[in-house]
Amino acid sequence: ASKITFPFLEEKKRAHVPITALTAYDYATARLVDEAGVDMILVGDSLAMVVMGHDNTLAVTVDEMLHHTRAVRRAVQRSLVVADMPFGSYHVSVAESVANAVRFVKEGGAAAVKIEGGATRCELVERLTDAEIPVVCHMGLTPQAVHRMGGYKVQGKTAAAAEVMMRDARMLEAAGAAVMVLEGVPREVAEKITSQLRIPTIGIGAGPGCDGQILVFHDLVNLSFSRPAKFVRQYADGAALFRGAIESYVRDVESGAFPSEEESYHLTKQVAAALDL
Ligand code: KIV
Ligand code: NA
Repeated sequence: ASKITFPFLEEKKRAHVPITALTAYDYATARLVDEAGVDMILVGDSLAMVVMGHDNTLAVTVDEMLHHTRAVRRAVQRSLVVADMPFGSYHVSVAESVANAVRFVKEGGAAAVKIEGGATRCELVERLTDAEIPVVCHMGLTPQAVHRMGGYKVQGKTAAAAEVMMRDARMLEAAGAAVMVLEGVPREVAEKITSQLRIPTIGIGAGPGCDGQILVFHDLVNLSFSRPAKFVRQYADGAALFRGAIESYVRDVESGAFPSEEESYHLTKQVAAALDL
């Protein structure tokens, strides 16, 4: 089981120690993220785009998310593993939503689920919390609402919209939310919400005033094949690194430089002689 817990994240908030979070979608990346000491690993539905190549996050299914969640779970020893509930899996009825969330815990091994939306999710947050499933809420620019928002746009920019967001955040906390992810929100609004909540806020494009930060793994290492958003900081050029490795491999195979004698298996002299080789 994970060594990081939600009470520990709340302690970090109280102690003003920043919380670290990243997405991961498979065994290899989850190993790296966990071993680096990242507090929370989100199996984000962003995998629809960065792993599966969809244009947005809407198409990914519960079964697909579970497949990745299980791979991540096998890799992780310390981080808190949170599974994103995909679009449609918590929008039909509370009963069906709870049943889907249970699958992420039972079959996926996740410690918690994440859902997008404001105060309209309060009933569901209560029901999931009653079912002993911690809920990470996600407000602001919520990618599953891309069609309603009319694109990926910063949310909460007017006084009225910011007020609603602050109120909804408090309501979701009261309903039982364990963590609040704030995405694409003016830094002032995120900072205000952070000061008003007991639970930690984790920002992505929400400025430095949050209790923690999260980024998409593929954005961090330049593997997302898209123009990075303003809030992304690329810490490595994975595309250049891997492209170089692939090109070198192709060159070496084509020139005969790979594989070498040392990279080959050999018969014993005896067997080779018996075969006249
Ligand atoms: O799916 C995702 O990667 C996310 C975050 C980046 C918060 O929801
Ligand atoms: Na997501």
